[in-house]
Amino acid sequence: MIICRTKDYQDLSRKAANIIRAQVILKPDCVLGLATGSSPVGTYQNLVKWYQKGDLDFSNVSSINLDEYRGLRPDNDQSYRYFMDTNLFNHINIDKSKTFVPNGLEEDSQKACDDYDQIIETMGGVDLQLLGLGHNGHIGFNEPSEAFPSGTHCVDLAPSTIEANKRFFASEADVPRQAYTMGIRSIMLAKKIVMVVSGEDKAEILKNVVNGPITPQVPASVLQLHRDVVIVADEAALSKF
Ligand code: F6R
Repeated sequence: MIICRTKDYQDLSRKAANIIRAQVILKPDCVLGLATGSSPVGTYQNLVKWYQKGDLDFSNVSSINLDEYRGLRPDNDQSYRYFMDTNLFNHINIDKSKTFVPNGLEEDSQKACDDYDQIIETMGGVDLQLLGLGHNGHIGFNEPSEAFPSGTHCVDLAPSTIEANKRFFASEADVPRQAYTMGIRSIMLAKKIVMVVSGEDKAEILKNVVNGPITPQVPASVLQLHRDVVIVADEAALSKF
């Protein structure tokens, strides 16, 4: 596990974007595993900027997102499909038919999850997986639990996740209670993993993820077992090391 220490969020975003840039240059038809939330927004802004300058070409890139709220339409401005379109896909030359997000509108959760695992398999797996870190140690929406979930599954969001994400909704009552998320096994099968972590409020959990025991109670701790993980974190997030 490599820890890449950055000065602040801006520096973090540039460095994380540089790692993704290298991936796209070295393998133009790569499969990127992508995340939503606040942490990767700056990373996506840098990728858009470099694309607009002519430094990057996404025409052969495919992407698979980690998760989607159950029940939200793709055009709902809180859906993760909408987030990806507005923060990245609408601004680069990626072929949108090769960008995948779980189908939040599929009511049959088994089917939604099986379909998504099938897509991941058909794509041949993920070359580079970008992750954020939840305050409770979640990655994707793999919440603390008794065992590491394997494939895509439907989760009941933890109260702390609903609390953390309510800032994006009109009220806490509007936050969906369930989501479809890629499982830990699928995440761990990515060839390379880049996790972006910013802010003092993530310092305690980040210390546990890196130095604590590997346990499904801290889902991201499983990353200690992956052979190619880079954690790009700012000084505030690394303040407890
Ligand atoms: C979102 C996702 C989540 C977030 C995590 C951190 O696709 O997978 O695991 O990465 O909740 O969210 P932020 O970055 O908003 O603190």
